[in-house]
Amino acid sequence: MSRIRVAIAGLGNCASMLIQGIEYYKQRGENYTEGLITPVIGNYKITDIEIVAAFDVSKNKVGKDIAEAIFEKPNITPKIVNLDKTGVKVVAGPVLDGVAPHMVNVFNPTYEGKLENVIEELKNSKAEILINMLPVGSEKATRAYADAALEANTAFINAMPVFIASDPTGEYPRKFKEKNLPLAGDDIKSQVGATILHRTLTSLFRLRGASVDETYQLNVGGNTDFLNMKTEERLHTKRISKTKAVTSTLDNPDLIEKEGKIRIGPSDYIPFLGNTKVAYIYIKGKGFAGFPIRIEAMLEVDDKSDCAAVLVDVIRAVKIALDRHIGGPLIEVSAFYFKHPPVQAKDDDEAYRWFKKFVEM
Ligand SMILES: NC(=O)c1ccc[n+]([C@@H]2O[C@H](COP(=O)([O-])OP(=O)(O)OC[C@H]3O[C@@H](n4cnc5c(N)ncnc54)[C@H](O)[C@@H]3O)[C@@H](O)[C@H]2O)c1
Repeated sequence: MSRIRVAIAGLGNCASMLIQGIEYYKQRGENYTEGLITPVIGNYKITDIEIVAAFDVSKNKVGKDIAEAIFEKPNITPKIVNLDKTGVKVVAGPVLDGVAPHMVNVFNPTYEGKLENVIEELKNSKAEILINMLPVGSEKATRAYADAALEANTAFINAMPVFIASDPTGEYPRKFKEKNLPLAGDDIKSQVGATILHRTLTSLFRLRGASVDETYQLNVGGNTDFLNMKTEERLHTKRISKTKAVTSTLDNPDLIEKEGKIRIGPSDYIPFLGNTKVAYIYIKGKGFAGFPIRIEAMLEVDDKSDCAAVLVDVIRAVKIALDRHIGGPLIEVSAFYFKHPPVQAKDDDEAYRWFKKFVEM
């Protein structure tokens, strides 16, 4: 079985968990599958994934071997395995709008990186897939990396909420389709995260004939992802992504949105939480004869392992799309693994059936 050659844009906490996670499973042997969503996808195991290129803008990371760079500040993902040097050095990418003004001192960017270097490195490393893990609000930078993927003939996974696979103008879906390159996105739906839990609860109301009259989801955490999201201007698409993921499970999705009866998004940065994310979900509705139903749920989870668990599945699903010469947005893969896919399934059971069908095709 051939290896899956992956490049990463944005070597932050998710990337650290992804790189360490692959090694974690490697060290435990092929038959150890605890914690994986899908142990085998089209004959590919997590241990078939190889990181062959990485891009960042932080002076703390650029030029270093990825095995060292992932432990540089401001990353806080703990060391869960010992990593040997990989020989893969972090290449500087273009900053564009990747670093918000309030994040300059935190990310410590170098402005030397150019998009041409990214394209060259993608080609030289023979990367098959580029994963975009830039900070929320990186609209221009995300499009630049998507353009680089197109130029270098690389498939693209968009882990964050800039709309590329679900681009409302249709431009990126068309471009990836024209080049017959797989495109998956947008915005990872974590393994057991706030979005899938919230969707499951609202799907339950629908299944049992109850109305959802008002709902909110508050999220707090203590890493750079949450610090970056302190400014409302960078949050526009994140709020859309998280809100649509929930309203799409309802029979009258517009109703509570129009009435302002739904509020979902990152709510604060609490440094001492580190990578622990805490989500509070509240739902109020009505059941039989109009009697009230109310749910309040609290979720506590390691935000980065929650993300990496999904990435290792998406990478393998995109690889089988490459093997089968399927290009353009991967509807079935995106619906199960992303918050804002090109097409939303009504609930995650349906999304899972689509994904299974795609894999077994
Ligand atoms: N559960 C999850 O963690 C989860 C779920 C869904 C989506 N996401 C999204 O995934 C993305 C990555 O999350 P994270 O926690 O790893 O973020 P992070 O803040 O730890 O890392 C972001 C990295 O991007 C780098 N960067 C900034 N501008 C860049 C540019 N122009 N080119 C290259 N690198 C650049 C930074 O230096 C940093 O290393 C975020 O947008 C996050 O919202 C995460």
